[in-house]
Amino acid sequence: GIFGKTRVNSKGLNMNIAAQAQPFFAQIKAFHQHQWQGGPLIDGEIRHRGEAQAVSSPFDSRTTVGQVHFSHEDEIEEALVRATAAFPHWDAQPVATRAAAIERLADLLEDNEAELIALCTREAGKGLQDGIDEIREAVDFCRYYAVQAREMMSTPTRLPGPTGERNELMLQGRGTFLCISPWNFPLAIFLGQVVAALVTGNSVIAKPAEQTNLVAFRATELAHQAGIPGDVLQLLPGRGAEIGPRLTNDERISGICFTGSTATAKRINRSLAAREGAIVPLIAETGGQNAMLVDSTSLPEQVITDVVHSAFQSAGQRCSALRVLYVQDDVADRVLTLLKGAMAELHVGLPAQYKTDVGPVIDANARANLQAHIDRICQQGRLIAQTPLSDDCTHGHFVAPTAVEIDHIDQLEQEHFGPILHVIRYRAAELEQVIAQINGTGFGLTFGIHSRNEGSALKVAHAINAGNAYINRNQIGAVVGVQPFGGQGLSGTGPKAGGPHYLTRFITEKTISNNI
Ligand code: SER
Repeated sequence: GIFGKTRVNSKGLNMNIAAQAQPFFAQIKAFHQHQWQGGPLIDGEIRHRGEAQAVSSPFDSRTTVGQVHFSHEDEIEEALVRATAAFPHWDAQPVATRAAAIERLADLLEDNEAELIALCTREAGKGLQDGIDEIREAVDFCRYYAVQAREMMSTPTRLPGPTGERNELMLQGRGTFLCISPWNFPLAIFLGQVVAALVTGNSVIAKPAEQTNLVAFRATELAHQAGIPGDVLQLLPGRGAEIGPRLTNDERISGICFTGSTATAKRINRSLAAREGAIVPLIAETGGQNAMLVDSTSLPEQVITDVVHSAFQSAGQRCSALRVLYVQDDVADRVLTLLKGAMAELHVGLPAQYKTDVGPVIDANARANLQAHIDRICQQGRLIAQTPLSDDCTHGHFVAPTAVEIDHIDQLEQEHFGPILHVIRYRAAELEQVIAQINGTGFGLTFGIHSRNEGSALKVAHAINAGNAYINRNQIGAVVGVQPFGGQGLSGTGPKAGGPHYLTRFITEKTISNNI
C-alpha cells in the first residue's frame, strides 16, 4: 500500500521545539530582502517579452519581492506548440522514469525549504506554520503520486479472453494538460496539479494565480532541475481574465485541472463545451460554504480551539475554512463567551513573526470585498467579537478577524474568503432543517461536527453533502493520503487530491486484443 514500505508523509518541523525552529528561522530570515525574478518558462528558459510587473507583499505594499513578466502572445503559442510536440516522447517513457523525476523534485523542495517558505511569506503573506505546511503538502503530493503512478501504470492489466487472444488494458497520458492554480496554496496546489499530470505521462502548461507567480516560477525551475524536460513543463504567467480563455479555448489542450472559484470553473466548462475538437475532462476544485455543528454534548474548550483554527488559520483563506458555525442553543452562550476570549488572544500581524496567528489577506481587492461584507453582515446581524489589528498592519491588506451572529445561512449569498465566522443558534428539534439548510447551499466541501454522541455525529456527517467531514477536530489541513481532499456539487468535480483515485482522471485507457 501507499503508506507501506515505500513512503511516509513529510515530517516538517515542530515550531515549538526551539532547537529545531531557531536555526531554521535564521535561514528563512536570510531571504528577508531577496528579490526574485519570474516570467514565462518556455523550454526551460525565462522569457521577457511580456509586460513586467513589480511584485509587492500583502503585509506591506511598500515592500517589493521581485518582478515578474507576463506571457506574450508569441510565447503562449510557442509553449503550446512545444508542449504538444513533447507529449508523445514523455508519455512513452517508462512510468518509473517519470516517477523518479517527481521524487527528485520532492527532495529538491526539501533542500530549498527555507527559500520557499520565505517566498511564501513574502509573496503570499503566509504565516510560518502555513509555510511549513505548504512545503510538506507539496512534498507529499510528489511522493504520493509517484508511488501511485508506479503501482497503476508499470504493467498493463491482463484481462480474460478466448483461447489464443491476449487482452491487455493499458493506461496512458491524455496529451497536454492545462493546470490553473490558486494563490492560497501557491506551491502545494500548483505542484499537486502539475505532478499528477506529469507523472501520468501528460505534458503540462501551468498557469499560476497572478498573485503568486514567483512561487510558481521557483517551483517550475526546481521541477526542471529534477529532470522534467523543459518542453514537457511550460510555465505561462499572466492575467487570468486574458490568458485563461486564450488557453481553455485552444484545441491543443487535452484536459484541464483547475482550482479556484466556482464561477470560473463554470466558465471553463462552458468554453470546453463550445470549442472545436475533442471532448476533454475538467477537474475542478472550487469553493465552499463550510459549516460546523456544535451540539450540547460537546466539550466547549475543544470546540473553541478547533473553531478558531478552522476559521482564522491562514486568515480564513482556505477553501476548507469554517464559515458557518451552528451552535445548539443550550450551550450557545457559553461557547460564544469562550470564543470572545479566544479571539481577544489572537495576534494579527506580520506573517513571518512567531507570535502572529493571523496574517494579511492576499490583496487590496480581497480586503475591500471582505470589509464590505463585514460592514453589511454586522448591520444585519449581531457582532460577537472582532480582534483588533496590531500596529504592524498599517501598510498591508489586513482584515480584523470577525465573528458575527446571523439568523440564516442564506444571508451569506456567496463564499467570503477571509477571517469571518458566521454563527447561527439552533434548537435540537431543528436538526433536520439545519442539515437541509447546509445542503441547500449547493456547496459540499468540508463539514465539522462536535458531539460526544457518536451515533448522532455519524448520522449528521453522513447526511451532509461534503467531500470532507470531520468529527471532533478542526476541519482544515487535509493530509495527503490520509484525508483525500475535494468536494461535491458546487464545490467541485472530484476526484480527490491526495487520494487513490485522483490520477485516473489524468489518464486515458486503451485495450489491445492481440490474436497473433
Ligand atoms: N487542502 C486544504 C485544507 O484541507 C484546502 O484548503 O485545508
